[in-house]
Amino acid sequence: MIYRLHIHLLNSFIGFCDFHYWLRLIIYTGKGGTGKTVTACATAIKMAEHGHNTLVISADPAHTLSDALMMNDIGYDPKPVQQKLTALQIDPVTEMSRQYDTILSYMAAIFSAKGIDETLAYEIAMLPGMTQLFSLLKIEEVGRTKEFDSIVLDMPASGEALRYLYFPKLVGSIGRKLTGLAGLFSGFAKVFQPLAKIPAPSKDVIQSEMELLDRLDVLSEIIKDNNATSIRLVANPDTFSIENAKRALMSASLYGINVDMAVVNKIMAGSSDQYYDKWAVFQKSKVEEAKANFYPLPVKEVQLYGTELRGIEMLRRHGEVLFGSEDPSDIFYRGKPYLFENEGTSINMTVQVPFTEKDDFEIQRYGDQLTISVKTPASRIVNIVPLPIATAGMKLSKAKLLDHQLKVLFEKTT
Ligand SMILES: Nc1ncnc2c1ncn2[C@@H]1O[C@H](COP(=O)(O)OP(=O)(O)OP(=O)(O)O)[C@@H](O)[C@H]1O
Ligand SMILES: [Mg+2]
Repeated sequence: MIYRLHIHLLNSFIGFCDFHYWLRLIIYTGKGGTGKTVTACATAIKMAEHGHNTLVISADPAHTLSDALMMNDIGYDPKPVQQKLTALQIDPVTEMSRQYDTILSYMAAIFSAKGIDETLAYEIAMLPGMTQLFSLLKIEEVGRTKEFDSIVLDMPASGEALRYLYFPKLVGSIGRKLTGLAGLFSGFAKVFQPLAKIPAPSKDVIQSEMELLDRLDVLSEIIKDNNATSIRLVANPDTFSIENAKRALMSASLYGINVDMAVVNKIMAGSSDQYYDKWAVFQKSKVEEAKANFYPLPVKEVQLYGTELRGIEMLRRHGEVLFGSEDPSDIFYRGKPYLFENEGTSINMTVQVPFTEKDDFEIQRYGDQLTISVKTPASRIVNIVPLPIATAGMKLSKAKLLDHQLKVLFEKTT
């Protein structure tokens, strides 16, 4: 058992220590309907044209890649789209039951031992972000074959799956041997009802866990390697999708994952019609707000085209609008828009902002966000800074703006 584990770790190590020389992974994320799938496809088409052997993966509900590329039969088997471009549509639920049914059944057994109805037990055993995690694990699987040098992943809902990348570390530090996820879960179930009988994990469950942890370990190394992986945010010119993308930026920063670009998609052009022109003016202010919010990330602006964006030709033009003659696999930004430093029981947060102390600004905290509003000659721009959960029981004790850097100190309330 221990011997097998060593072999596993050794393989993982050999597998991941050199991947940034050959693998480029770009993940598009953002709120529903903002244009992640079409932007992922457009990026992949352009990358293939730049000579990268590219795989585009979507974990959206069935057919989305087929719809966007207007090609039949893009499914579970990789399908060639054009030279150097392959597409793969995965179904996270199938993926999960194919590979991790043993663990999931065990978790469900724990809950059902507590008298929870079995159907419900399966629902509870599925943690938030778990289905996304299985689309990420596909990357580790594809990565092992080294068939592609570039992967573009269209990832629904932002961030939640990223926390699982820390599982191997967490479980490893507790003692990877016999306590895995099953150990964590039986502990969790004990909290509910200390006297009830918890089924003991079988050999299969433990082995399946070990494999999962090893795969997560490799995945985590790939995603945290800033030379290999970049997250790109997709938003529309509206308050909600900008806020959602901003939160993804904050989570990625907490986890140490590079974000190298934001795309503001579906911007309406001005119009002679009063109704449409009012929208265009509103959206223009949202684009400005997005630029302030994503600062200093490069922000690509894309218009709402006259027709629905789909089909290879239109996607290629979308790629031109986004990247021109640039290679989409370049890393467009490498800095840290957010930085969190723990100092004893305090947290120091540094955020890059497009303002300086000379501007007329105001800082306010509302629950889990900080708003900086700045008066410009034309209007008032609001920059929303999402706060990490760790600051929930803390008070904002100092805030200082110096040279495009906002420094905020959070201290524990006693
Ligand atoms: N710039 C644009 N101009 C016109 N239509 C667009 C543009 N961007 C996206 N669309 C259209 O908007 C719809 C949503 O795009 P897409 O499916 O890529 O979004 P998504 O973020 O992947 O959505 P979901 O969250 O549902 O997966 C599609 O019909 C697409 O063709
Ligand atoms: Mg989609």
